Amino acid sequence: MKRYRNRELWPDDHGVHINAHGGGLLRHDGWIYWYGEHKIAGRAGNRAWVGVHVYRTRDYSRWEDRGIAFDIRGGEAGGLKPGECVIERPKVLCNAKTKKFVMFFHCETDGKYSDAKVGIALADHPEGPFALLKIERPSIGRWPENTPEELKNPKRIAFTRSQPPVSNGENPRTKELSIVGADLPIGQQSRDMTLFQDEDGRAYLIHSSEANSTLHIVELDETFTRLDGPCHRAFPLRWMEAPVVFRHGGRYYMICSGCTGWAPNAARSAVADRIEGPWTELGNPARGEGAETTFGTQGTFAWEEQGRIFFLADEWRPENAIDGRYVWLEVTWEGELPVLRDSENVPLPLDPLRA
Ligand code: DGJ
Repeated sequence: MKRYRNRELWPDDHGVHINAHGGGLLRHDGWIYWYGEHKIAGRAGNRAWVGVHVYRTRDYSRWEDRGIAFDIRGGEAGGLKPGECVIERPKVLCNAKTKKFVMFFHCETDGKYSDAKVGIALADHPEGPFALLKIERPSIGRWPENTPEELKNPKRIAFTRSQPPVSNGENPRTKELSIVGADLPIGQQSRDMTLFQDEDGRAYLIHSSEANSTLHIVELDETFTRLDGPCHRAFPLRWMEAPVVFRHGGRYYMICSGCTGWAPNAARSAVADRIEGPWTELGNPARGEGAETTFGTQGTFAWEEQGRIFFLADEWRPENAIDGRYVWLEVTWEGELPVLRDSENVPLPLDPLRA
């Protein structure tokens, strides 16, 4: 049985390094599907030229290349021009009501990161082809339920609109503004994102918003295609990206990065009794050498297998995007604290002695 090693090349069934960055997994009919950004070589590879790649396995030891599940080549559908647009952090769920596979991704049509939208594509099969349904911002015209009154102040909103846009990196000016109010009519910004499906079947979009200063948690409708459900703000002015969400012992956990572009930074963890919050920060979950940079990585997804939780992360190589590496670590526990320790070994497939 092949064991992948963190940070090394991960060959697929054709011996080619797996090309599924910023990815997420889905379990369906005995298979595990891995969806991720298909990158190309060089710096240009950080924009989308091809689409979303899908692989599948039964046991994590052999990943079969199943091709491009969402293909943007040969078309300008929805304004997605290959080489100009950005498609990041794709995640897929299967909707029990419609039987459709629903793919969400962060979408920029112009590569400038100012659209800050969510792309949604649908397929009848887990391997696709996924067809674009829409590209839009969440929560158009809908205040997050827990928006503080001061952010609804019309003067503050007018002041925000009179100012140059806040760049999507930590910025002290943000505390005087109401980005949530200024964006209300056009929808809330959405960059890094993930999907989380709870045990009751409900699904949520968790996305960096308000110039990445604040996370939003949006409950999806029963078809998983509408972004106008109840929304809650979390971690205001904490500049969190790369949300990774999981459930453990009846509570909800989140591990996010800080906001430093492709450069790795220290992760933060948090716990809540309900997915919409309130969330309590638990500090940096990483331990040991490299903890201040999450061991040189940024999280992308949490995966549960046999009651254990795995933190799936990218080691980005922005100068040669296609060469990005994967680091999968098991989440262990210090009491209530989720903890990450670096390891050369990928902890999957599970060692039968430990399972
Ligand atoms: C950090 C994000 O987590 C990535 O998904 C990507 O958007 C980069 N920033 C771009 O700089």
